[in-house]
Amino acid sequence: MTTLDHPYPKPPRRVPPEAVVEHGQGPDDAAAPSGPPTVRLADATLRFGARELWTRLSVDVAPGEFLAVLGPNGAGKTSLIKVLLGLTPLSAGSVTVCGQIPRRGSTRVGYVPQQKAFDRDLPLRGRDLVALGHDGHRLGTGLPSRARRARVDAALAAVGALDYADAPLGLLSGGEQQRLRIAQALLGDPQLLLCDEPLLSLDLHHQRAVTSLIDARRRAAATSILFVTHEVNPILPLVDRILYLVGGRWAIGHPDEIMTSERLSTLYRTDIDVLRVRGRIVVVGAPEGALAAPGDDDHHPAETIPTSAGITTGRR
Ligand SMILES: Nc1ncnc2c1ncn2[C@@H]1O[C@H](COP(=O)(O)OP(=O)(O)OP(=O)(O)O)[C@@H](O)[C@H]1O
Ligand SMILES: [Mg+2]
Repeated sequence: MTTLDHPYPKPPRRVPPEAVVEHGQGPDDAAAPSGPPTVRLADATLRFGARELWTRLSVDVAPGEFLAVLGPNGAGKTSLIKVLLGLTPLSAGSVTVCGQIPRRGSTRVGYVPQQKAFDRDLPLRGRDLVALGHDGHRLGTGLPSRARRARVDAALAAVGALDYADAPLGLLSGGEQQRLRIAQALLGDPQLLLCDEPLLSLDLHHQRAVTSLIDARRRAAATSILFVTHEVNPILPLVDRILYLVGGRWAIGHPDEIMTSERLSTLYRTDIDVLRVRGRIVVVGAPEGALAAPGDDDHHPAETIPTSAGITTGRR
């Protein structure tokens, strides 16, 4: 497990009323309290066939808010991001991003996808990938090439990737590739940054660099951050609220409210112990099968076991 040196707990910011929600009992008061929301989900349900990933999810994400999204494999975290990208329609309820129905290719949304290695033979350099943050949408195409190159260089420098910016992407390490993805997502000047497990493959130094970069971005430009992770400890000092998805149920609130034995036991429907050890949170005790939705025990049994050091099972 890796962690930052920041103390925990930190003083809470923007603490909304927290709630743990059973199927179909979404509260009206799970919203962040200030400003027109960057993201608004109201009674949002997503299902694939008979499988309900999350039910009546209601949450507003405020400008500049840092929302961590936690939950076991298969809980629907990436699917939530795809809804916000306009790639997956809701089964019920409503969603807006910057006041509009999400649509593909929005310039207001930056996206760091869940990591997949690039093909080793991909004929693209790191700086070409980052430049897609410009060229991938209409704002960038009008810029003179010198200005565009300067912005790409600045983005590369910000993630410490200048040294390998001209190397073939496929030959870079997973961590190097990930830093380039973050540079690309920030280049487009997003109002909402969707990060799907962006710290994977990063060593401690670069985890810090990347989280600092994302934090600086939301402070400077009030960009809302939705940050999917299995490892909450490296980002605890930055997180305003946690959205925790488990087996169709969800909870949202300040980390101190969500990361408790009582709260997670309710969510997982089994006894969970949340320990605080040397400023880090360790979760112990989710047995196999306890994480699947009711009546869904045969679905993805292996995927529903928490796998990260942040969420440690009693079986490890
Ligand atoms: N288009 C789809 N059609 C059918 N099922 C899907 C579709 N997309 C996702 N799923 C299923 O929905 C479930 C949730 O997937 P998702 O990728 O959102 O999980 P996750 O919480 O991101 O998990 P992980 O932590 O492993 O990344 C999975 O069981 C997946 O197979
Ligand atoms: Mg995922």
